[in-house]
Amino acid sequence: MSSKLTTATARACANIALVKYWGKRDALLNLPATGSLSLTLAALSTQTTVTFDPALAADEVELDGRVAPAHRVERFLDLVRARAGIATRARVVTANDFPTASGLASSASGFAALAVAASRAAGLALDPRELSILARHGSGSAARSIFGGFARMHSGDRDEDAYAEPIASPLLDRVRMVIAIVGGGAPKARTSRDAMDHTAATSPLYRGWLELVPHDLEIAERALAAGDLVALGELAEANAFAMHASAFAARPAIIYWQPATLAVLEEVNRLRASGVAAWATIDAGPHVKVLTTAADAARVQAAVRLVDGVTAATISAAGAGAS
Ligand code: DP6
Repeated sequence: MSSKLTTATARACANIALVKYWGKRDALLNLPATGSLSLTLAALSTQTTVTFDPALAADEVELDGRVAPAHRVERFLDLVRARAGIATRARVVTANDFPTASGLASSASGFAALAVAASRAAGLALDPRELSILARHGSGSAARSIFGGFARMHSGDRDEDAYAEPIASPLLDRVRMVIAIVGGGAPKARTSRDAMDHTAATSPLYRGWLELVPHDLEIAERALAAGDLVALGELAEANAFAMHASAFAARPAIIYWQPATLAVLEEVNRLRASGVAAWATIDAGPHVKVLTTAADAARVQAAVRLVDGVTAATISAAGAGAS
């Protein structure tokens, strides 16, 4: 291992949470304060190649064709090296097929792809649960991107208990997400990591958020099992608003929404009033992701595209797990 080059390439899709992860119980192990539940999306993916190279003095990262800060990747690779019993530095070449760091879950697909590629290149053969735990150390949401379709993340007191698992649902083939890009996908002001920590530390509504999530997870899992898209959509929308409410109430406030964000929400309401399946969710950025069906996706896309300030709208089906 130490004398030769070893390389592996992996691809992972981003995921959008329907019940959000927002806050940690342990920053060092990156344990989430609550569980979460998501849909992995075929249209947003990251491809990453990791090459352990004895000639390197330090880890190198290239993101979308440019040299990128290596600090977070280096810490992640240290975990892989410790586990594989190697000290070799690596070159990481990664590319997203969507705007990076814009609130479009690039850290989810990014660390899921990195976990798969780095562990394989280091000679480790990890099973999906072990990969999910490893990916979580990079980014909490990445633990869910190891799996395709719907995934449920478990909060856990210990490292080995905080992993994601796939959830079967009759809704899988029927669901679509329309991703409405607000403001051209410009880099966001504040990372979700920093924002959730600030919310947990200062928001008087954070305690209420922690109490809410276990109930929302139950409702979402029941809806998935029953194939009840209306129940799932209503729950996902309400859960996203509750997450943002906790962030709005942080001191000082965290506000990711732009005027066009609200305009898309109004459009989603109008669509629903006219009988279209459409429910919104929003992450740590201004973009709106609309949960809909294969039958209604084109109508949702056409409507949100016309909203002032929306620069693109993409339809995605459920995506596969990392490979
Ligand atoms: C709003 O997974 O990016 O997208 O674990 O600190 O890297 P870290 O956080 P991250 O947070 C995701 C927050 C969210 C909600 C979600 O995906 O569940």
